[in-house]
Amino acid sequence: MAMQQLEVSWEQDYRDRMNPELMTSLLRTSIPVLDRCDWQIKSVREGFCETLLPLNKETTNQHGTHQAALISLSADYTGGMALATLLRGVPLAGIHACRNDVSASLWLAGMNVRYKCPSTGHLTGICEIDPVQAEEVKQRYFRGNRVLVTLQVRCYSNGELAAEAEMKYFAQPTIQLTPAAPQPSRSTLFNHKLKASARMIAGVRGKSSARAKLRSHCPHAGFAAGPHGHLLADHLNSILPQLNDMVLTRSQHIDEMIQQVPGLRQVVLAGAGLDMRSIKHASSHPHVTFFEIDLPEMIAERERVTKLLQEDYRHQRVMLTADFKTQDLTKIIGEHERFDPTVPTAIIFEGCSMYFSEVENLRLYKSFRELMQHPLSCLWTDFVEPKVVTRRTNDQRILSFLEGMDSLGESFIFGTDNPAELLESAGFGIVETISAGSYLDDPDPVLETYSFSIARP
Ligand SMILES: C[S@@+](CC[C@H](N)C(=O)[O-])C[C@H]1O[C@@H](n2cnc3c(N)ncnc32)[C@H](O)[C@@H]1O
Repeated sequence: MAMQQLEVSWEQDYRDRMNPELMTSLLRTSIPVLDRCDWQIKSVREGFCETLLPLNKETTNQHGTHQAALISLSADYTGGMALATLLRGVPLAGIHACRNDVSASLWLAGMNVRYKCPSTGHLTGICEIDPVQAEEVKQRYFRGNRVLVTLQVRCYSNGELAAEAEMKYFAQPTIQLTPAAPQPSRSTLFNHKLKASARMIAGVRGKSSARAKLRSHCPHAGFAAGPHGHLLADHLNSILPQLNDMVLTRSQHIDEMIQQVPGLRQVVLAGAGLDMRSIKHASSHPHVTFFEIDLPEMIAERERVTKLLQEDYRHQRVMLTADFKTQDLTKIIGEHERFDPTVPTAIIFEGCSMYFSEVENLRLYKSFRELMQHPLSCLWTDFVEPKVVTRRTNDQRILSFLEGMDSLGESFIFGTDNPAELLESAGFGIVETISAGSYLDDPDPVLETYSFSIARP
């Protein structure tokens, strides 16, 4: 897939994307240790970057390894910046606010740093890419290929060469790392991001709420989240304080629905992520089979996590893999030997609609409808309002949250303020929708942008 090289002049690119002040600030926000060290980008031009790692209390303590680690860190961002200047007009995933389909992902594949002498002054890092190599990088990237490049970074202090580093980077259009890309080209980075967002939701689900109404709790969520999920949950909760109760409300709303389906026999967790609901409900619903379906990378992670639990109710659970963008769920779920579309079934599509286009969502809802042949079956799904997706909201916390989701590689692309219309056009008869705010009886405008729908045949 060739990428179109954007028609942006270097001057424009420097002003909008690459100038030292902007990049220093963005990198310091993403990598807090750079902020603690007062690390700075001093100058950039195409294929060139100069940085400064000041000698201060944070960067030196007479312990060689401490200083060496920070020199390597500085060398990484010096080389990475020089490389980024070659991707004219392309925002960097995880750094600039951007979507997967327009951004580049850069990551370090390896490094070899030779420390020549202790750095006893401010450390200047310099990376200058050879013009022939620079041209090759540009051509490869804009032809749509993954770039693997080795760059030299030299670090000077008091005019002396303190360290010399050989840094090996990958650069690739982020879109190629997403589920839309064929599986072999999805990278470790994609896998990591996919797990990160599912862990983050599990981390939030594992928390409690100050509201008396929110009592439903998943005892396995915190375990599934792991330390990474807790860290991400705390980070995103600090950006959008309502997130905690939004996730707990939706979780409770689903639990209530599960209790209310008469004669329930099947539950489908579509886009299961690290939702441990099947394990939570298995013992109280011994006649229910839980179908958990997600991308292969995510199912592998579910398998890993659930195996570690004391009881994983394996006999009641069926794990299936599918790419919802390209595969037909009526076949993958519907043709499974343990699935029966004619018995009371609850399909849960939780925290997912925002990541699929309208066309993809409609196709998915139609498939869910086909899998629900019993009149008491029901679908649970959630939606954000379109103004959240188009970012036409005045709420800075929502905007910052969406930027946080962008950097997890989970940009919101779909929202609706008419769930009934969408679900009815997919063949559902009765649709009930309630906003998180109404459920909680709280007029907070952020809670009003998020709603849950239960649709029945
Ligand atoms: C935000 S998570 C929500 C997970 C879970 N429902 C929960 O609430 O904890 C979104 C889920 O959608 C899954 N997903 C994203 N793209 C997908 C695709 N193309 N096909 C199947 N699943 C996908 C992800 O792997 C992830 O588990």
